[in-house]
Amino acid sequence: MTNPLTFPILHRLADGGFHSGEALAAHFKVSRSTVWNAIKHAETLGVEIFSVRGKGYRLSQPLNLLRADKISAALGPASIPVQLFVHDQLDSTNRWLMQQAANGAAHLSCAVTSHQTHGRGRRGRVWQSALGNSLTFSLLWRFESGAAALSGLSLAVGLALGQAFAEMGVPVALKWPNDVLVEYRKLAGILIELQGDMEGPSAAVIGVGINLRLPQRMLAQIDQAAIDLQSLKAEPVDANVVLGVVLKHMLQVITRFEQEGFAALVADWQAMHVYHQQAVRLLMPDATERHGVVAGVAEDGSLLVTTEAGEQRFTSGEISLRKAMA
Ligand code: ATP
Ligand code: BTN
Repeated sequence: MTNPLTFPILHRLADGGFHSGEALAAHFKVSRSTVWNAIKHAETLGVEIFSVRGKGYRLSQPLNLLRADKISAALGPASIPVQLFVHDQLDSTNRWLMQQAANGAAHLSCAVTSHQTHGRGRRGRVWQSALGNSLTFSLLWRFESGAAALSGLSLAVGLALGQAFAEMGVPVALKWPNDVLVEYRKLAGILIELQGDMEGPSAAVIGVGINLRLPQRMLAQIDQAAIDLQSLKAEPVDANVVLGVVLKHMLQVITRFEQEGFAALVADWQAMHVYHQQAVRLLMPDATERHGVVAGVAEDGSLLVTTEAGEQRFTSGEISLRKAMA
């Protein structure tokens, strides 16, 4: 169910003050019952709204919506040449941007939404997010090289996120190929989808999901340990500001990746790897397990593991990495 008035009303309520049904109805040139319907719809999205007789409607707690003006302010003057597409609601920023890319969208187009309803994870999995509590966005990067040269890209993006969180005062670890963890709990995920030839040129839609706040009902829907940025920060976390910081680091790191390849980033990446030189299990697509000690990552982003059979290389795709049983 969609209601075209829900988000316009939420943007007005986002100032934290009371807004009477009458004033909202007059502003949007609709009836008071249409306003009431939109308020009820907002509540189905998880937003709690007080209704006080004689005063009107008010949010029970601040709602962190994305706004183009706030993101632009966070990005700073023209130094970050992204083209922003800010949506209140989208099924998936990756799906939307893949479609735009197929229709010729420009390099560095960035789609971001306050409410992603059908977030995609890797391998057909679901990425959970909740209105006002998650940062979900995708960045389109057009490469002259073909898709074959992009095998280390998802690791490069993980490194960019690691550096962005460090700037925000939150040290994180990476888990090959591209999970962002704090205390072994997942803070952010990366999904890269490619278009184009193996020889080139190619386009990458780089999707990033970050948990800003994890309400209980959302935690209950995630089938692995998860953590949110707000629990790691004293001051309130604003999605618009986080996006600005993350995009800045993505631009720096991916530009370096484009010019020098992942080889230039290997040492920095390994320094953040949660299992570097640790004993691990590799869960293979055929449900078998391999065991070994992580020796590092190669210049193409594959994982190097010392096993009984010597050093082996694993490419990401279908493999899941786990700590070895004690
Ligand atoms: P791997 O298979 O490499 O071990 P993974 O188990 O994290 O990684 P991915 O495919 O990378 O799997 O990510 C999808 C998974 O992420 C989902 O199956 C779910 O367990 C988890 N997930 C979904 N939403 C969230 C979220 N908001 N925060 C943390 N984790 C999430
Ligand atoms: C994973 O860990 O499985 C990757 C999760 C990636 C989620 C992000 S949220 C923004 C973008 N749009 C999507 O549908 N997925 C990615």
